[in-house]
Amino acid sequence: MRIDKMLANLGYGSRKEVKQLLKSGAVRVDDIVVKDGKQQVVPQSQTVTLNGEVIEYQEFIYLMMNKPPGVVSATEDSQDETVIDLLAVEDQVYEPFPVGRLDKDTEGLLLITNDGQLAHRLLSPKRHVPKTYFAVIDREVTEADVVAFARGVTLNDGYQTKPGKLKILKSGIRSDIELTITEGKFHQVKRMFQAVGKRVIYLQRISMGPLTLDETLELGEYRQLTEEEIELLKNYQVK
Ligand code: URA
Repeated sequence: MRIDKMLANLGYGSRKEVKQLLKSGAVRVDDIVVKDGKQQVVPQSQTVTLNGEVIEYQEFIYLMMNKPPGVVSATEDSQDETVIDLLAVEDQVYEPFPVGRLDKDTEGLLLITNDGQLAHRLLSPKRHVPKTYFAVIDREVTEADVVAFARGVTLNDGYQTKPGKLKILKSGIRSDIELTITEGKFHQVKRMFQAVGKRVIYLQRISMGPLTLDETLELGEYRQLTEEEIELLKNYQVK
């Protein structure tokens, strides 16, 4: 990363102000004065100082977003706004990416990080990390559906799902449910309901492994994970 970009992103001034800082000789990389803003630095392994003070640059970033509808869970998209576009520039510099995908119209818990190892572990099909969704269904959800989901249902491409835990919160001409699944097939929740002749009209993810959506986050808002949440994620073992 360019040194001027790193300093500007960390809030040490505009690009122009940072240029002045560099010109004044206040910035050192591994104890060598750097005046050229174009100089590349590797913040993870090099020590950058400003007037002798070490500039802290964390390696990993862990964010929890309450994903709003209408944005895609990707780092780039030619048509739609992405969840990364919603991040402040100071967070974008870490080059984070969403851990797994939520559909464009799905809301709720989305983990965004640049920790590839952690993401891989959470997404690995072998690990069966549970994900719980709240959904509104277009008709009555019954005990027969609970039983069918507990056995696993056949999706429209012939795939037999693993058991899902369906909880009926409110049953009627429209039903509120919670569904916990341990896989992440494309449109899985919507297709599981399709398999029993029903349609999901609202979908929100409320948890993923040990992480639960912070209800104080408005749609589109996000926050850093706490140290405790990061530890829980790193040490998470599926029971
Ligand atoms: N299942 C779906 O159908 N959509 C999502 O966004 C997540 C799970």
